[in-house]
Amino acid sequence: MRDCRETEEKYGSSSFQKFELTLVRGSGASVWDDQGKEYVDFMAGYGVAIVGHSNPKVVEAIAKQAAALITCHGSFYNDARSEFLERLVGVSPKGLEKVLLTNSGAESVEAAIKLARRHTGRAKVVSMKGGFHGKTYGALSATWNKKYREPFSPLVPGFEFADYGDLPSVEKMVTSETAAVIAEPIQGESGIVIPPRDFFKGVREVCDRAGALLILDEIQTGLGRTGRMWASEHWGVVPDIMTTAKGLGGGVPLGAVVARADAVSSLLKGEHTSTFAGNPLACAAGVAALDFIVENDLPAQAAEKGKALEEGLRVIAGNHRIAREVRGLGMMLALELRVDIRRLLDSAMSEGLILAYSGRNTVRLLPPIVATDDQLRQGLAVLEKLVAEEEIRLVG
Ligand SMILES: Cc1ncc(COP(=O)(O)O)c(C=O)c1O
Repeated sequence: MRDCRETEEKYGSSSFQKFELTLVRGSGASVWDDQGKEYVDFMAGYGVAIVGHSNPKVVEAIAKQAAALITCHGSFYNDARSEFLERLVGVSPKGLEKVLLTNSGAESVEAAIKLARRHTGRAKVVSMKGGFHGKTYGALSATWNKKYREPFSPLVPGFEFADYGDLPSVEKMVTSETAAVIAEPIQGESGIVIPPRDFFKGVREVCDRAGALLILDEIQTGLGRTGRMWASEHWGVVPDIMTTAKGLGGGVPLGAVVARADAVSSLLKGEHTSTFAGNPLACAAGVAALDFIVENDLPAQAAEKGKALEEGLRVIAGNHRIAREVRGLGMMLALELRVDIRRLLDSAMSEGLILAYSGRNTVRLLPPIVATDDQLRQGLAVLEKLVAEEEIRLVG
């Protein structure tokens, strides 16, 4: 059998923090390694596998489209693309009626920033402390963590950071020179941080007063993950520009910016295009994924299953003093501990559970929404066992 680890270490980027696991197959909320061992996947590729791994509807759509037409530049019309655009606008917040297609989350953020600058003719962008928007230059300029930013300066000029959840801090920074405020409706990378209930209503008003656009980054929170199709619905706010990616293509790279028609129309011909954007293969996968999300009401499923998962986490937190806090909404949840969780993540894998980081002390849970109740219970049982073991190590 091929030694994937050795080959990837030899030829691949050393930039990914690797786990000692070679995954070769997936179905629903399960993945299998090269030895045939099954894992319950609570990471789901950092929230990608919303409709489950290799969802049969997505697989079928990809196979059919691959046999018909794989590539079709955006300068031609295409059936799969037009169907996807219609579906995406159909599930997007009212008032967001036009789409720029992309190939990833970071690319969606790049496009959103360009759109805001083009539409307003202004340069300043207010982002949030703790915010994460990706690692390409524009997206990185809106990202807070110094670890990601500093080695690559100078970044794109014009970005400032307000305190997330603190309206006066945003108010102070937004001026008549501000093109946009960009924020995650719930911060993912920095530990599943939920802002005060009325924060985004206030930010919306601040933007309106200043003539700035509100960009909500729904790349991690969107498509049902938090118990609503879009997390902005929890806050009763419609942005001017919304970014989405991760689960949009059912696992195939696909991103989008959905925005007010007048904002998108401010782009002149040729100002923002990309060779692969809107390719039929990704769009066909996207149609299948969106149909699956809508037909199976995954937002409602995430709300219900997420409640049970959160209750399970609260029981664990109540039973163990090394647990600090449980946070989250729907199936975007975190358990913060008082210890570094690297060993716990490694042990979880030995026990057949894949978990994600959200900072050194916080376990992030982003299971596929299609995970069964049994799989969620199984994951919680492993987590409780490992938290108990960490506690024994710490306090004896
Ligand atoms: C909120 C948010 N924005 C942007 C990104 C960047 O997406 P990508 O990794 O597809 O570039 C991520 C990725 O985790 C994210 O969570």
